[in-house]
Amino acid sequence: MAGRYDVIVLGAGAAGMMCAIRAGQRGRSVAVLDHAAAPGEKIRISGGGRCNFTNIHAGPKNFLSANPHFAKSALARFTPKDFLAMVENHGIAWHEKTLGQLFCDNSAKDIIRMLTDEMRAAGVELRLHTEIVAIDPIAGGGYRIATSDGALEATSLVIATGGKSIPKMGATGFAYRIAEQFGLPLVETRPGLVPLTLDPQLLQRLAPLAGIAAAAEIRHGKTAFREALLFTHRGLSGPAILQISSYWREGDEITVAIEPDIDIFITLKTARQANGRQSAQTALAEILPKRLAQHFAEGEGISGNMADQPDRRLQQLAAAVQAWPVKPSGSEGYRTAEVTLGGVDTACLDSKTLQVKTIPGLFFIGECVDVTGWLGGYNFQWAWASGHIAGEAA
Ligand code: FDA
Repeated sequence: MAGRYDVIVLGAGAAGMMCAIRAGQRGRSVAVLDHAAAPGEKIRISGGGRCNFTNIHAGPKNFLSANPHFAKSALARFTPKDFLAMVENHGIAWHEKTLGQLFCDNSAKDIIRMLTDEMRAAGVELRLHTEIVAIDPIAGGGYRIATSDGALEATSLVIATGGKSIPKMGATGFAYRIAEQFGLPLVETRPGLVPLTLDPQLLQRLAPLAGIAAAAEIRHGKTAFREALLFTHRGLSGPAILQISSYWREGDEITVAIEPDIDIFITLKTARQANGRQSAQTALAEILPKRLAQHFAEGEGISGNMADQPDRRLQQLAAAVQAWPVKPSGSEGYRTAEVTLGGVDTACLDSKTLQVKTIPGLFFIGECVDVTGWLGGYNFQWAWASGHIAGEAA
């Protein structure tokens, strides 16, 4: 005789646990299955170990999806404040770091403990080390799940197994295979929030800059992010690059503006007036890290005293620093990507419940759905919100 539940959730990540809590609170019998040895492994490593668990400003504009309106309902029905109330109920200390990003003061493990405590209180059964072998609809309703631990049955089945990012941590792309099994459309998946790589020639020229960080605006078409830029041994990283990487496509160019709040031409002109005998490189090093100043001054072939540089040359130098076209050769891929773009096409899901419109009792939530947030706590907010509303309906 198979174990029988009202709701089975596949994946004990952020979305799956949230869904299980809500369904359990409603009096549903719930089991969460995961092949991993511990729940919430991505929560544990998130935000540098402190989990950027939400963003107080999260709204639909902070998400990428083929249907930009799809996330509205979930985000409105379970807000950052709702999650924060849960965090505070559990006495977890938190702080706002920057740009509305909320982090734990102590450890991401506090969030995992909160979720597992809530699951326990809601009577949810957590089954770890469980491989999913097959899923079959039962004639007349419900689902049979063959697992390494025997067969289970449920009226509602919630797929919350995440995306493809960081395969080393157990990411499998399993949800997409289940979607295909049920004939559901997928939006092509791509690594998102990922460092960008450069071709060997450019990389060689930029090698001396590895390790340098600077304030920057990175632009791709009409989209731009102002945050830190980091030069690495493989290419470009830092929050500004991770953000733009979700919009970038192979072959596209991005435009880098370093220290975008400073008018570099005016600053150089003023420096020339004040001290004509210093070099342009020295004047630029008042604004940029020294090695970066050297890179741009040498790159533009500008040497000698500032007094000898006409406006045109200073403008040229300013443009090199603030309108720098870069054509990345690729990205670091799923190995380091924080999220997976694309996924289960929202066209087949009900935005109020995350249930498949044409298949009663089957739900997809969290990262496996074609809703992807910016860097900064947005992806967890989507996981909590989509999990919560599915838990209300499953
Ligand atoms: P998630 O991946 O969390 O959970 C899926 C679960 O399903 C896992 O427990 C997995 O073991 C299980 N599973 C997968 N395949 C299975 C199978 N075949 N059988 C059984 N179980 C299976 N976001 C944010 O908002 N703030 C942040 O600070 C960070 N930081 C961060 C750092 C790093 C390094 C990464 C990689 C990602 C982040 N993120 C983030 C993104 C965030 O972690 C991500 O969006 C959510 O964890 C997605 O939640 P899900 O529950 O959808 O999937």
